[in-house]
Amino acid sequence: MAIAIQNAVICTPEGELRQQQVRLEGDRIAEVAETVTVNPDDTVIEATGLTLLPGVIDPQVHFREPGLEHKEDLFTASCACAKGGVTSFLEMPNTRPPTIDQATLDDKLARAAAKCVVNYGFFIGATKDNLAVLNTVYPVCGIKIFMGSMHGSLLVDEEPILDRIFSEGKRLIAVHAEDQGRIRARREQFAGMTDVAVHSQIQDEIAALNATQLAIQLSRKYERRLHILHLSTGIEVDFLRQHKLPWVTVEVTPQHLLLTTEAYAKIGSLAQMNPPLRTEADNKKLWQGLLDGVIDFIATDHAPHTLEEKAQPIPKVPLGCRGWKLLCPSC
Ligand code: DOR
Repeated sequence: MAIAIQNAVICTPEGELRQQQVRLEGDRIAEVAETVTVNPDDTVIEATGLTLLPGVIDPQVHFREPGLEHKEDLFTASCACAKGGVTSFLEMPNTRPPTIDQATLDDKLARAAAKCVVNYGFFIGATKDNLAVLNTVYPVCGIKIFMGSMHGSLLVDEEPILDRIFSEGKRLIAVHAEDQGRIRARREQFAGMTDVAVHSQIQDEIAALNATQLAIQLSRKYERRLHILHLSTGIEVDFLRQHKLPWVTVEVTPQHLLLTTEAYAKIGSLAQMNPPLRTEADNKKLWQGLLDGVIDFIATDHAPHTLEEKAQPIPKVPLGCRGWKLLCPSC
């Protein structure tokens, strides 16, 4: 079966936006040109006025299967990806149980094979007790370290253990860079304050900078491939502009580019995330970092939450195309 997409604006390899015709044959792009072959039995998609992009890779998502499927499962999450143009996602280990060994990884892979409508990859999570398997579990897209903002056992905040993880193996290490020691101390300092906006003060810019600096220091020491997840502060951009290494990549989320601490007054705890929202000055520095290459790409850090008391039993909806005829694994 061939598909012709007509009159969409595409971005050429030269970086120009131009109206072009595209022909797909099976799972391959067969032609991109001013005019392309269109046979009578081809599916024709008229895309005048629309922009056609390559499939997007979301390099950081926190889906909820296994364990919290009333919020989202791998089928609904991957359908949301497809609907938004995301054709591949890399998923984090803070599910229930967490993905911290071969058995939990195999379980997630089997679920994904049965349910996902887009491509996927999974991180193995580092704990203080699973160093022996971090470089052997397979297949993973990398090792995720929560240096702060822990999820149960998923926390490695002691420098000697971090040093060991960076020193052993070659896999990419992705860090949630917040200094848990500083967060702990500031939580005590702000104890009793109920204003949700205090979240940004407890997990402040220094907590973020401390951890980013430590991750860069360890990456330099062992020449270890490092990815810094969801950069949130201007001082981290300033630091990385000076100290980023050729084998380090950095990402930012739309929420840290577009929202500020003012969101707490409007939407309360819906604005609460880790790392927290910052100031407009931080937004500006993050945009600048993205434009000049200190920051390499955008990730969503998608992570759905519901009020636990509203948790519903998992609906018994059979897997099926639900309108996704082209993508559904069962069709
Ligand atoms: O705000 C966050 N929520 N940051 C993370 O890194 C994890 C995520 C979640 O899974 O809820």
